[in-house]
Amino acid sequence: MVDFRHETDRLILRDWREGDWAEFWQATNTVAVMEWLGGVLDEDGMAGARARLESYQAEHSHTFWVVERKSDGMLLGFCGLKRSNQAGGPMDMMEVGWRLREEAWGHGYAKEAAIASLDVAFAKFGAEEVIALTVDANTPSWGLMIRLGMRRREDLDFANDEFDADAGKIIVYSIDKDSWESTQL
Ligand SMILES: CC(C)(COP(=O)(O)OP(=O)(O)OC[C@H]1O[C@@H](n2cnc3c(N)ncnc32)[C@H](O)[C@@H]1OP(=O)(O)O)[C@@H](O)C(=O)NCCC(=O)NCCS
Repeated sequence: MVDFRHETDRLILRDWREGDWAEFWQATNTVAVMEWLGGVLDEDGMAGARARLESYQAEHSHTFWVVERKSDGMLLGFCGLKRSNQAGGPMDMMEVGWRLREEAWGHGYAKEAAIASLDVAFAKFGAEEVIALTVDANTPSWGLMIRLGMRRREDLDFANDEFDADAGKIIVYSIDKDSWESTQL
């Protein structure tokens, strides 16, 4: 399998290495980062999440890749592409997602990594449309979707209480290839 590695100005998006996982969980399995992701994971939860990310790579040659900062090699979190598979939602669509350690928020790293992910979704992985999922309460996440030029797709919203039991709903944004390419001119 060809290794994935994609550089931006400040970041490297790359495949996972064995040694990444301990640092990733230490940095991101926190109350703040996991607030809208079902809360801090126990050992089984971490093992399941890792297995899912590895299965996406094996099945589709893309996953939520490691995001590494070039200046000091710090693992900031993940960002990348999966195929949508959330219970009750749209299935098998190209989906972009992100999760960064708290110290890395507010620097535009998530946007930079997400732009790279959308670029490769359309240019390398043949996507015609990419969706993103979140909950109403996760303002930073849907704010990023808007900053990327994605548009709200209420028609794709679905009932799911895994991430926000009160709302009981996952909301969807999307962007198609033509719109993405026209925003990048
Ligand atoms: C969602 C998440 C990735 C967003 O991260 P973020 O850092 O807010 O997003 P961006 O990369 O777009 O950064 C935007 C901020 O960086 C600032 N910024 C600073 N330097 C910047 C630069 N060089 N370029 C762009 N923006 C910059 C922007 O002004 C903006 O700040 P503001 O919101 O105060 O105006 C982050 O909150 C996170 O990891 N959350 C926990 C996990 C999670 O919920 N994931 C999503 C599940 S659906």
